[in-house]
Amino acid sequence: MVKKKACIFISGSGTNLRSIIKSSREYNFPINIRLIVSNNKNAKGIIFAKKFSIPYICLKTNRYNFEKIVLKKLIEKKIDLICLAGFMKILSKKFIRDFKGKIINIHPSLLPKYKGLNTFQRVLASKERLTGCTVHFVNEKLDGGKVIIKKKVFVSIKDNIKTLKKKVQFEEYRAYSHAIRKVFSLN
Ligand code: GAR
Repeated sequence: MVKKKACIFISGSGTNLRSIIKSSREYNFPINIRLIVSNNKNAKGIIFAKKFSIPYICLKTNRYNFEKIVLKKLIEKKIDLICLAGFMKILSKKFIRDFKGKIINIHPSLLPKYKGLNTFQRVLASKERLTGCTVHFVNEKLDGGKVIIKKKVFVSIKDNIKTLKKKVQFEEYRAYSHAIRKVFSLN
């Protein structure tokens, strides 16, 4: 199987990145990670790039320069798929257009509910009994692109932000790998 070339964008702890790296080491997983991009020099997730010897770049600059530098790298490395995994910067419309259909994102709610930030806080405040995560294609609208996969999580009355986040993120790890397989029509 010829694996597609992927780039993962992160900003923080990189636990989704870690999970995608694990999956990508399976022989029949459709992608190889060729590059990791962080917009945060202190992103904890960078340790996974180092640990698994995956090329990475950390760029703390304005959006224009960030995208210019990253675009050059993506073309150089012939990247087929960009996975946003806790990447907290909004990409420009131009960048999204240039990579139309090739950028996917994970969001910690059952979209279209709870787009944007502070998801767990808002889910708890609304006394939801059901939440989850969504992997979707990225378009020009925030958290608005076509859904690839959703996974549900039950909210207990005892949940707080920390416990809910843990439950949702556990499902995220399964959802992201499943979604990547689905993008390349493997299931
Ligand atoms: C994940 O829970 C992801 O859903 C969320 O950030 C977290 C990153 O965790 N993304 C968003 O909220 C995007 N709007 P990680 O860095 O440990 O993978």
